[in-house]
Amino acid sequence: EEPAAEEAVPQAGDPGLVLLRRVGVVDPASLDAYRATGGYAALRRAFELGPLGTIREIEESGLVGRGGAAFPAGRKWAAVAAQPVRPHHLVCNADESEPGTFKDRVLMEGDPYALVEAMTIAAYATGCAKGHLYIRAEYPRATARLRHAIATARARGLLGEDILGHGFAFDIEIRRGAGAYICGEETAIFNSIEGYRGEPRSKPPFPVEKGLFGKPTLVNNVETLVNVPAILLGGGAAYARTGTKGSTGTKLFCVSGAVARPGVYELPFGATLRELLTLAGGTPAGLRAVLLGGAAGAFVGPGDLDIPLTFEGTRAAGATLGSGVVLALDAGADLARILLRIAEFFRDESCGQCVPCRVGTVRQEEALHRLGRAPRAEDLTLLREVGQAMRDASICGLGQTAWNAVESAIDRLGAFPLSVTTPTSPEPS
Ligand code: NAI
Ligand code: SF4
Repeated sequence: EEPAAEEAVPQAGDPGLVLLRRVGVVDPASLDAYRATGGYAALRRAFELGPLGTIREIEESGLVGRGGAAFPAGRKWAAVAAQPVRPHHLVCNADESEPGTFKDRVLMEGDPYALVEAMTIAAYATGCAKGHLYIRAEYPRATARLRHAIATARARGLLGEDILGHGFAFDIEIRRGAGAYICGEETAIFNSIEGYRGEPRSKPPFPVEKGLFGKPTLVNNVETLVNVPAILLGGGAAYARTGTKGSTGTKLFCVSGAVARPGVYELPFGATLRELLTLAGGTPAGLRAVLLGGAAGAFVGPGDLDIPLTFEGTRAAGATLGSGVVLALDAGADLARILLRIAEFFRDESCGQCVPCRVGTVRQEEALHRLGRAPRAEDLTLLREVGQAMRDASICGLGQTAWNAVESAIDRLGAFPLSVTTPTSPEPS
């Protein structure tokens, strides 16, 4: 039995929260409780603003995607709304399979109506008649709670033919993944929903133009969408006053590993890594490194704790915020073993469609195996060459990022020091 989301949220009920404010406090099965705490006021506001006015608020908010790539949400919404081809589709990406990521699960289990309302607003603004909630199969409780929320909303006129008597028709269908990491990639989701193998498509064309069933499609991550009601209720400009210029609002961080109190934490963008780790109870067994952004992210060392947790701040520090993974390794962590595990993960999860990733992830794992036994300079050189080829020539983000964490561990943490065993090349005679 997986632990309930409520147990994973150490700060539920904190008055400063935006995204987590109902989690662990308001009954996630009760539509009445949701409405009593402000639920569906944002949809009414969207109807007042109209589709273009709603999009304008999202643009003004500066909201960027929380799946990891930080693409401006307002720009995406405007691009879908402007497409003359019909129908438009909405896909909520709830696949959340980045290792160390569990924030969307907390939102879906703890505040399912917020996601249903946010999807309805997004669909209204961008002209989508149908929503597809693509959720990973490993989240049975979130799936059940969302099913219940969708059915109740439908029964109460908040989904269906004539939502709130406004003449707007929209409904949501839940689609479950089957355990593949690659099915969190947006175009692999389309293939999966359409009944094909979950393999990414080449981009461009981007989904805003040609997505699910070849039609214009808005794809947003769960956390991105759950920001939407707060933006409409407070106004986009007010929302943008929290955080930094490049990263507005608050962010959910998934803190795990060698901290005293692992869990999901909500903080305004701009808080430092040190502040977040302190909030999570510190690292009683010492700190060797922190993996930011998950397997696709990068390691930083104990000297990097003043990095501001923003998309631009982590980028400037040569790391990434990604979807908000903050995985702390204690002072005694076996780095070589952890890197090998990451490499195994990518080798397992590569869909095999393109050669740089299919072959590169295997070569990377083999080289890490050898390096774990006896560091040799040629294996480090091979790793770099393979890593660069994967980054440059892979079709999708999986292959493009499969070398990030390993590279950062070598460059920043000094993994595989070669001082003792580096073979010396003979001088050319
Ligand atoms: P991307 O940068 O290719 O695209 C981001 C989004 O912006 C997509 O929806 C894309 O369609 C859209 N977009 C980009 N350029 C566009 C344009 N010119 N016009 C219209 N739309 C455009 O990134 P991708 O591959 O979708 O995501 C990579 C991220 O996913 C990484 O940062 C990684 O951290 C994260 N990730 C998150 C996981 C999770 O469980 N949350 C799992 C695996 C990866
Ligand atoms: Fe598949 Fe990897 Fe190519 Fe992505 S990069 S399409 S996961 S083989």
